[in-house]
Amino acid sequence: MGHSLCCAFILLLTLAISSPHSINAQPVEYPLANLSNSWINTASTIMNTTHGSVRLNPILVRGRLGPRFVSGFYCYENNTACLFAVLIFQNSPDLDTTSRIQFAELVWSANRNNPVTIGATLKLTQDGDLILEEANGGLVWSTNTGGKSVSGLNLTETGNLVLFDKNNAVVWQSFDHPTDSLVPGQILASGQKLTSGVSSTNWGQGQYSLAVTDAELVLYIESNPPQFYFKSENELSIRKIQLKNGSFGEFRFRNSSAAQFMKLDPDGHPRIYEWGGSNFTEAVDLLSTYIGVCAYPMVCGKYSICTSNSQWPQCTCPEGASGKTSYFTQESDRHPNLGCSITTPLSCSHSKRHSLFEVKKINYFSFSSSPYNDETSLEHCKNTCLMNCSCKAAIFRNHWGSSMGNCLLLTEVFSLMNNDQENTNATAFLKVQMQKSLDKRTIAIVISSLGAFLGAVLIIGIWFFLYRKKVESKEVEEGYLDQVSAGISTRFSYEDLKAITGNFNHKLGEGGFGSVFEGTLSNGTKIAVKHLDGVGLVKKSFLAEVETIGSIHHVSLVRLIGFCAEKSQRLLVYEYMSNSSLNKWIFPRNRVASLKWQSRRKIIFDVAKGLAYLHEECRQKILHLDIKPQNILLDENFNAKVSDFGMSKLIDKDQSQVVTTLRGTPGYLAPEWLSSIITDKVDVYSFGVVVLEILCGRKNLDRSRPEEEMHLLSLFKRKAEENQLLDIVDEFSDDMQLHRVEVVDMMRVAAWCLQSDFTKRPSMSVVVKVLEGLLDVDNNLDYNFMINPQIQKAIVPVDHKEDDIGASTPLLPSVLSGPSFTIFTQLITYATEISIPILISKDYTAEFYDLGIAMFGVKSSNLSSLDD
Ligand SMILES: *[C@@H]1O[C@H](CO)[C@@H](O)[C@H](O)[C@H]1NC(C)=O
Ligand SMILES: *[C@@H]1O[C@H](CO)[C@@H](O)[C@H](O)[C@H]1NC(C)=O
Ligand SMILES: *[C@@H]1O[C@H](CO)[C@@H](O)[C@H](O)[C@H]1NC(C)=O
Ligand SMILES: *[C@@H]1O[C@H](CO)[C@@H](O)[C@H](O)[C@H]1NC(C)=O
Ligand SMILES: *[C@@H]1O[C@H](CO)[C@@H](O)[C@H](O)[C@H]1NC(C)=O
Ligand SMILES: *[C@@H]1O[C@H](CO)[C@@H](O)[C@H](O)[C@H]1NC(C)=O
Ligand SMILES: *[C@@H]1O[C@H](CO)[C@@H](O)[C@H](O)[C@H]1NC(C)=O
Ligand SMILES: *[C@@H]1O[C@H](CO)[C@@H](O)[C@H](O)[C@H]1NC(C)=O
Ligand SMILES: *[C@@H]1O[C@H](CO)[C@@H](O)[C@H](O)[C@H]1NC(C)=O
Repeated sequence: MGHSLCCAFILLLTLAISSPHSINAQPVEYPLANLSNSWINTASTIMNTTHGSVRLNPILVRGRLGPRFVSGFYCYENNTACLFAVLIFQNSPDLDTTSRIQFAELVWSANRNNPVTIGATLKLTQDGDLILEEANGGLVWSTNTGGKSVSGLNLTETGNLVLFDKNNAVVWQSFDHPTDSLVPGQILASGQKLTSGVSSTNWGQGQYSLAVTDAELVLYIESNPPQFYFKSENELSIRKIQLKNGSFGEFRFRNSSAAQFMKLDPDGHPRIYEWGGSNFTEAVDLLSTYIGVCAYPMVCGKYSICTSNSQWPQCTCPEGASGKTSYFTQESDRHPNLGCSITTPLSCSHSKRHSLFEVKKINYFSFSSSPYNDETSLEHCKNTCLMNCSCKAAIFRNHWGSSMGNCLLLTEVFSLMNNDQENTNATAFLKVQMQKSLDKRTIAIVISSLGAFLGAVLIIGIWFFLYRKKVESKEVEEGYLDQVSAGISTRFSYEDLKAITGNFNHKLGEGGFGSVFEGTLSNGTKIAVKHLDGVGLVKKSFLAEVETIGSIHHVSLVRLIGFCAEKSQRLLVYEYMSNSSLNKWIFPRNRVASLKWQSRRKIIFDVAKGLAYLHEECRQKILHLDIKPQNILLDENFNAKVSDFGMSKLIDKDQSQVVTTLRGTPGYLAPEWLSSIITDKVDVYSFGVVVLEILCGRKNLDRSRPEEEMHLLSLFKRKAEENQLLDIVDEFSDDMQLHRVEVVDMMRVAAWCLQSDFTKRPSMSVVVKVLEGLLDVDNNLDYNFMINPQIQKAIVPVDHKEDDIGASTPLLPSVLSGPSFTIFTQLITYATEISIPILISKDYTAEFYDLGIAMFGVKSSNLSSLDD
């Protein structure tokens, strides 16, 4: 049997060399080729693709049912350019062996930048090199595998072109050199990337790339530096992503038995294509639920402003004040999407005549994913750009009501996004070249010097202020640290930690307050080192963390091994948790793999035990105050441990309630936070939100869903009223679907924890007993959750809570109703969306922990500051 098959291959190979036409007529399998073979590109037969007719000259063919692959010469219909390529096609059972290939799509090519013509030769040489030569003998491409004991060429079942040795080991494979497409089963590993073509008819390398880095999946446009238009959210150690049936990393799409492949198209959209019976058609545009049509770098060409009109981008050039000379001209009147050019080209030798052209209400696609200056004044931002010739534009985004903001400097200006509707306040300053005009020049100099001067004064002022604060607090803190450090873990020196982490080389991720790095102690134990960045708040968080977690041990709390406090450096050393944080496992957006029901149950149980310990079993009662999936870490066996005690608060055991500043992460905040008088039940509430997120496999706020499903708690309430709770069980997990009844039962625990009246919520020890099956969930549950943790809704109960608490200091509605309140609300909304922790003190200064800065403040003299 083996012999006859083998002979068939030989026969077919001979035919392939002598008469390609007869092969075209019969796409039976001939997937292997031996050494010392060559194939000449001759005139071949016509075949269809999505982009029109092409010619195909097959060399190897592989596959039975479902997706099949063919490798060979692939040419324009007029034969002017040809590639050595691999194509995907689908055969239907009835035209199995006798009909020729009618429709196929390119998924790999060897020489996309150097097409060959008729008469070119592909050779598999005697010493194992696969080379492509032009008709005149010039070398176009080679695998450089000569002398590496190659014994043959194999087009595999998955469309991988492999040079193998006598042990069938891979010496070279096309999967290691992807072009713009991935086929099912193919892996894109760290360091590899897909690069789009120039256009559907120009196969050369275009400007967009999709790459996998150590930490995330990124899409960017080539520039210096590259500008990113998509980054997967906070992924830890991705390193590789496989295109699977129905998924690509965090992206999900329809499972299909038909052939599928993914392609980074010339317009920068990564799309899945699927066989539809007679041709390949687009099945899904992967980023469509994540970014808008205007968020692709060249959607409108350079310098053009994109306005999305329902689904269609509309492009216009930035316009000067009416009547004034225009700085920009449209590249083509007929095709506005080709962009705009600067009327007078920028010249670095005449940089004195550079000026900035202001375009208001703008957003830029790379704003959220590129490094920008965090805390800059508008003038400083503009000046930095004006003074550096490689800067072509500055985009400045205000912090609310503040004169400081984020400053993004661009070396190349791609499409701008019109941002009329949204309430972010960013302005673009595009560098243009002025005609000779002394007056304007003088004015510009005066303005910019003035700006620089003011900037300098401001910076000195800030520095002075911070320096004084530092000197004041330093001694107090040092003394304190000596005290706490006696009781606990190791105190490391900064140099030690630098060595342990290999100079902070391997970043595990970023969290509240700073970055986390992997390290290895001398005894081989892996650790995680958190480097706290910033000033002020960081100290507070550092102390909170050392103070709480430093002195307690529990299997469900992450262990603090040591810390470092040297000069301004603050670092915390924890045990290493190999499976990262819970959010990586439950939300489909960044899910590594789906957790089974039993694992999820165990995680809920672990967290409950950890919290019960904090609340009831320590010398002092510890309120965590920032329970959320990001702060729940998983070890190699998926044991869950609570981490990040940067917001935590210690209170005496006999004290049941405490007055403190509002802190935590929007979305997980209990309604009673608005009174600022809280109990351990706020942790119970946050726990309830997390449980619900675990069960439903989604975030409490998910903007990719339709309006009525965006807020998980509203949805939960509605489904509970309709008695349809089965609907909201994690739809992406088969295992969860199998255990739907138990999952819905667990939802009652969540509902109990989410009771708006905190006195009705169970304590964590009661939750543990319920989970152990020793107690039942309260029968009298109120599903009328106070849905939105935004301040305006939660303010309402303050008045009648007052009586219970006695000497409280509730927020005064009058204070909260002015314009400052609007800003305040926007602030909270913003924090909710990007899910970052906030802290709001009694003088209504809200501080975003992750940014480490006070965003705004409204002072009220009739309230005393109760900040701790
Ligand atoms: C191709 O290789 C196979 C396996 O090594 C061998 O049996 C066969 O004889 C070779 N065919 C030719 C034409 O060299
Ligand atoms: C290509 O498609 C056209 C119509 O779209 C059809 O008429 C033609 O027969 C197809 N060619 C092949 C080789 O299938
Ligand atoms: C051959 O076809 C390609 C793509 O269809 C086209 O771009 C090119 O101009 C054609 N060349 C000639 C000489 O017709
Ligand atoms: C060729 O690839 C297929 C997988 O598609 C594999 O089963 C087969 O063993 C390979 N043949 C050789 C000779 O390496
Ligand atoms: C798609 O099918 C594969 C197996 O063929 C399965 O593992 C996967 O869970 C399915 N995905 C979806 C979203 O149904
Ligand atoms: C993909 O998954 C679907 C459903 O799970 C299945 O029917 C189909 O055969 C799978 N396709 C491939 C190519 O494996
Ligand atoms: C592809 O096939 C679908 C139906 O299978 C058909 O409606 C469509 O017109 C085809 N497209 C092309 C470009 O042939
Ligand atoms: C000018 O800007 C470029 C790109 O942002 C930067 O690499 C370079 O260091 C800057 N030059 C100066 C003198 O600041
Ligand atoms: C928006 O930005 C512009 C210029 O950057 C500034 O003048 C204006 O005050 C800002 N508006 C708000 C509400 O911050």
